[in-house]
Amino acid sequence: MAEPEGARVTTSDEQDLGRGTMTPVARCGEWVLRPAGPHTPFVQDLLAVLAGAGCRWAPRPGGIAPDGRERVSFVEGLADWELVARGGDPYAHRPLLQIMRWVRRMHDLTATPGSGPAAQVTCHGDLGVHNLVYTPDGEASGLIDFDLAHRGSRADDLATALKELARLGEPESVPAQVRTAVRLLGAYGLEAVDLESVLSRRAAAAPALGRARRCPGRRCPETRRLETRRPRTALR
Ligand SMILES: Nc1ncnc2c1ncn2[C@@H]1O[C@H](COP(=O)(O)OP(=O)(O)O)[C@@H](O)[C@H]1O
Ligand SMILES: [Mg+2]
Repeated sequence: MAEPEGARVTTSDEQDLGRGTMTPVARCGEWVLRPAGPHTPFVQDLLAVLAGAGCRWAPRPGGIAPDGRERVSFVEGLADWELVARGGDPYAHRPLLQIMRWVRRMHDLTATPGSGPAAQVTCHGDLGVHNLVYTPDGEASGLIDFDLAHRGSRADDLATALKELARLGEPESVPAQVRTAVRLLGAYGLEAVDLESVLSRRAAAAPALGRARRCPGRRCPETRRLETRRPRTALR
């Protein structure tokens, strides 16, 4: 991957962004540096497709830094926990509806041509408020962390999104969760949704990914399955 002009990165002046999560992530100026792996070319290609389509809500790809780490652009805004610290609500409907429109755009840009709701698309793979970026007044400003992106069905991503964003299964008001889920699907665009297939997944991937995150170095079968579905070929 070519190195963008003027984007030289040194190890000094880095700010740790990881906050105890699994991936050591650092900011250096306009760039975010993260460990590279076999998935990196796929992620960089996806980010290039999004950037080429004018999706300013996703990081731009920055190739590989001289020290071997993956580089993506920093998306300005607040993490979910920073928004909470300022009294904001990461689960407010407005930002979540915006995210669903962006997810739809990503899926459409990467969809296998002409096969409707059953088309293979590139899934984000880890849709949840922990991977959203917010403006100080609580609007959505970006979607980050494409490390688990993979080819799959729209339903794969939507099942995780509904589980995480509508907080399905948590001990809250079920009618409120269902209302949120319906609104989220509406923002995605119901005509593109194979609802039965979303429901049949029962968001199995999301808890699996959560477990994987809590056990650095260990892999659970669901995560392995997601990884093996990652294609090496073009996105569309
Ligand atoms: N491109 C980015 N732009 C802005 N902030 C980022 C970016 N990538 C990561 N971060 C920050 O770093 C944190 C951890 O990064 P993330 O890629 O989500 O790692 P993990 O794999 O541990 O979930 C995020 O919650 C966010 O605050
Ligand atoms: Mg993350």
